[in-house]
Amino acid sequence: MGMDIDLNHDIQKIFGKSNYEYEYQTDDVFKLIESMDFTIKYLSNELLVAFFKQGMDFGIYGVINKYKPKINEINSLLGYPNSDFLTNYVKTAISLGILYQNDDDTLELNMDKEIVIKHPEYDKFMEDYSINYDYMSKLSKYALIGYNHPKILLSFIDDADIWDIILNTSYLKSCRNIAAKYLNLDNGDYILDVGCGSRSPEFYVSKIYPRGKYTGIDISRDLLKIAEIRTKRWNIGGVVLKNMDFRDAIIKNKYDYVLCTYTLNYVDPPKVFLKKMMDALCPGGKLFIAEEFFTDLAQGINVELFEFYNRLNKFFRKYYSKQEIINMLELMGYDFKQESLGNGILVIEKI
Ligand SMILES: C[S@@+](CC[C@H](N)C(=O)[O-])C[C@H]1O[C@@H](n2cnc3c(N)ncnc32)[C@H](O)[C@@H]1O
Repeated sequence: MGMDIDLNHDIQKIFGKSNYEYEYQTDDVFKLIESMDFTIKYLSNELLVAFFKQGMDFGIYGVINKYKPKINEINSLLGYPNSDFLTNYVKTAISLGILYQNDDDTLELNMDKEIVIKHPEYDKFMEDYSINYDYMSKLSKYALIGYNHPKILLSFIDDADIWDIILNTSYLKSCRNIAAKYLNLDNGDYILDVGCGSRSPEFYVSKIYPRGKYTGIDISRDLLKIAEIRTKRWNIGGVVLKNMDFRDAIIKNKYDYVLCTYTLNYVDPPKVFLKKMMDALCPGGKLFIAEEFFTDLAQGINVELFEFYNRLNKFFRKYYSKQEIINMLELMGYDFKQESLGNGILVIEKI
């Protein structure tokens, strides 16, 4: 995707204004958290519908119904170039109970599986976040050809303009608002933002302006270029944007807050990330981690489905459980207090 970034275009004019748009500005942090969790739960079901339909369209269920093949035989019946994608599809369908795998490894349809779709609670549903997953599910047909197909435009490095749109959805804006309100961000605070992307820097700079310091680190040069243009409008000295892999970063300063939002699932293992983030905090400082969900808190969410679609982004690794993160911090010997906000936000206070 070309990187002629036209910052004069208004994303909302392209995609229309979300019904939810005004809501994320509410002062009620707990309403926002509830809405974010609701949105992911609802999307999980919406994705299941899309996933099921794709299996029919790709002919996968048809051949299973006719031949009862083993997983490794399916592709010889269908002949798609990317057999890994097909295997991932079938394994996901088994884990979702759409298919059975018999003891002799043959596959069979679960004819009793029912998928129900109902209206969301519209006052909680940030429908513009569906863009993200609608887009991914549309791209998955190219993955039938190859995970590296040039039309799978999801790379942070090459497709920054697309990510800039995704990062502007109500869901992600809500998270920034929760961070600002819950942490009480104020003029003069020092913030380190790990995997900052193109939208967060301006938002957080506006909160700590003019005495605070904001350091954003991101692996994508083009996302940072957009962030740089936006933060320049604030014209203050305390903004540093660094283009690098955070694993290689040497953090000399100490910060009141370290933010890592929707970034940890692109890192495996996350130990180096966690260590550098904890070391960058002042005593009493807080690490704010946000993910769509932590797997141990994700009741009613089809984790495999989110992983299946996110795998189209070659940066994606996995979703973590809250317990995995806590265990890693304990093993590394940090003293901390922790608090969960809903299913996907974890705040760690360094003691
Ligand atoms: C989904 S975006 C989230 C952006 C931002 N935190 C937000 O909430 O709007 C994930 C970001 O992490 C960055 N990223 C992924 N792996 C990284 C790494 N190893 N080091 C630094 N940045 C990374 C990507 O380039 C991308 O900007």
